[in-house]
Amino acid sequence: MTYFSPDPGTRPAPAWLPCGAIEHDVIGSLKSGKEAEVFVVEWRSLDDGRSCLLAHKRYRPTAVVKGELEARGFTKARSFVNDSVYHEGRRFRRTRDARAVARMTNHGKKLLGDRWVDHELDTMRTLWDAGAAVPYPVQLFDDGMLMELIGDAHQAAPRLVSARLSADELAAAFHQLVENLRIFAGASIVHADLSPFNVLWWDGRISIIDLPQSTDLVLNPQGFELMHRDVVRMCDWFCRKGFTCDADSVFADLLDAVW
Ligand SMILES: Nc1ncnc2c1ncn2[C@@H]1O[C@H](COP(=O)(O)OP(=O)(O)O)[C@@H](O)[C@H]1O
Ligand SMILES: [Mg+2]
Repeated sequence: MTYFSPDPGTRPAPAWLPCGAIEHDVIGSLKSGKEAEVFVVEWRSLDDGRSCLLAHKRYRPTAVVKGELEARGFTKARSFVNDSVYHEGRRFRRTRDARAVARMTNHGKKLLGDRWVDHELDTMRTLWDAGAAVPYPVQLFDDGMLMELIGDAHQAAPRLVSARLSADELAAAFHQLVENLRIFAGASIVHADLSPFNVLWWDGRISIIDLPQSTDLVLNPQGFELMHRDVVRMCDWFCRKGFTCDADSVFADLLDAVW
């Protein structure tokens, strides 16, 4: 049993989210990706019995002892990704930690892994408050985060790559994407791994997910390059699907949102 009260952000938490004394059950595994495994969790209020389904994204441990993965409910270990480009502009305060990261010791890898988790939730919170179409970030756990499940009790939302959009839906998705990227840019956030695999489509709306590698647009010396890469990747996909758009004019539009 946990006690939950929503973070008092500038945008209210969704009304359907139970608060107070909560019990939760893991319903099943939704997706097993490279870095993380996403589980569906039922979240129930012990006060009034209201419930909802949430997504629990859990990062696999990088350094594990025999039997630990199975005991923690995972199927395989995470392959460690060198994420220095995304961490530009953020530093470790203690020199011992900085040395461990530089040498990539197990302690260093754990520090980087922990930061990814904290950072994903913080970024989602900032974006949610700014009005972006991201799942509502509910709570931080030591290995990941709990967030709104995009979808319903029968199916999770498909990713754009497999959503089979009509021409009108494709146009709507594109306009929503640009509107959201303006919000990202206005908050000085670059997704940095944006692709049709990290955009969900549900009920005529997009949701942008998978933000651990997001970085500061201005503080990171490669921020604008990463934003350009995101825009090009998305525009290439929309063009291949038959919706004509121009990455450079979207990029110029986003620069306007920054300045
Ligand atoms: N909030 C969510 N609602 C519904 N499905 C989700 C949600 N978060 C993640 N997923 C599903 O889990 C998959 C993996 O999550 P993602 O955050 O992209 O992690 P990674 O790609 O690093 O494994 C996504 O492609 C999506 O299908
Ligand atoms: Mg992903």
